[in-house]
Amino acid sequence: MASFKPLHILAFGATGNIGKHIIDQLIRAKPAFPKISIFTSPNTVATKPELLSQWKAAGVSVIVGDITNSEDVKNAYHDVDTAISCLGRGALEHQFELIRLADESESVRWFFPSEYGTDPDHDPSSALEKPHQFKRRVRKTFTEQVKNLKPTYLVVGPYIEMWVDGDGLKDAFGGFDVKNKEATLLGDGEQPIGFTAMEDVGKALVAALQRPEISFGKVLKIASFTKSPNQILAEYEKQLGHKLNAKYVTLDEVRSFEKKYWDEGNPRAVVGTLRRIWATGGAVYDKLDNEALGLNENQLQSLEEAVGNRLEGKPF
Ligand SMILES: NC(=O)c1ccc[n+]([C@@H]2O[C@H](COP(=O)([O-])OP(=O)(O)OC[C@H]3O[C@@H](n4cnc5c(N)ncnc54)[C@H](OP(=O)(O)O)[C@@H]3O)[C@@H](O)[C@H]2O)c1
Repeated sequence: MASFKPLHILAFGATGNIGKHIIDQLIRAKPAFPKISIFTSPNTVATKPELLSQWKAAGVSVIVGDITNSEDVKNAYHDVDTAISCLGRGALEHQFELIRLADESESVRWFFPSEYGTDPDHDPSSALEKPHQFKRRVRKTFTEQVKNLKPTYLVVGPYIEMWVDGDGLKDAFGGFDVKNKEATLLGDGEQPIGFTAMEDVGKALVAALQRPEISFGKVLKIASFTKSPNQILAEYEKQLGHKLNAKYVTLDEVRSFEKKYWDEGNPRAVVGTLRRIWATGGAVYDKLDNEALGLNENQLQSLEEAVGNRLEGKPF
């Protein structure tokens, strides 16, 4: 299997936040991967015609179907050797069937489940965290049920773009608001976090595909850079040339906001929990796989570049 070379890649959820970056990097890596297909919904065909036209012009095949329809998925798997799921949290439950059908198919041998975030097996406490449950069940499915597929789980920590943005939850769970000259950090702001820029997630996935001998069956851990929130604050202030009004939310306060969100059934509770996990050491690892995948510092964003991109308002 180490000599395996992906010849036909099929991506699910390709048109979403991280899927777009993954497909863009697969296209940039041409001619490394002879055939790239995406499976998308009729809704996305109607709402994102420009993105799909751009990809079609770059040689990507667009298959339109329903991920909950087995026949649609079976047909899409024809001749595919590698499947990449970038499905959003709302669709993670559908992955089990996608994995089962891939395992039964004659051609699919490699599957990247939708991870691209926190390691759900980081430490013993990870098993109890609500946002990890689907991803842990997917890993269990591979261990206990899958026969013909190798999984690769790409762990990247928080996307720096979304983390600084704060996702509308700044006052409770941290974020930067340059317009109002404010930054809200969790705890004392000293806990290092392994951040990955979204385009670097795509680069890491391409690197993983090009090195099956390293990636097959593995949890790969990647970071563009590992820095503390206070270091990020300092970089903002350096590039802006002025101070931001920094507020610190204690970890006890964060936990009480988190509980309130879950108790109220607020769907944003997931984001709050993940931001608390990152603020308490959940995205620092004993060893990163950057080097094993041939990803050197020059290929990945630095803190300086990432902050520069945010200040320029670069879309993500
Ligand atoms: N590390 C981080 O900071 C971070 C941040 C956000 C997300 N993530 C992780 O990244 C992965 C992908 O998340 P994302 O935010 O990129 O996904 P997303 O944009 O919410 O959705 C990705 C795609 O999934 C497909 N989809 C089909 N049915 C869906 C449903 N019922 N609900 C949602 N999506 C549906 C859609 O594509 P089609 O219409 O083309 O089928 C959609 O464009 C997840 O595992 C998530 O946990 C990590």
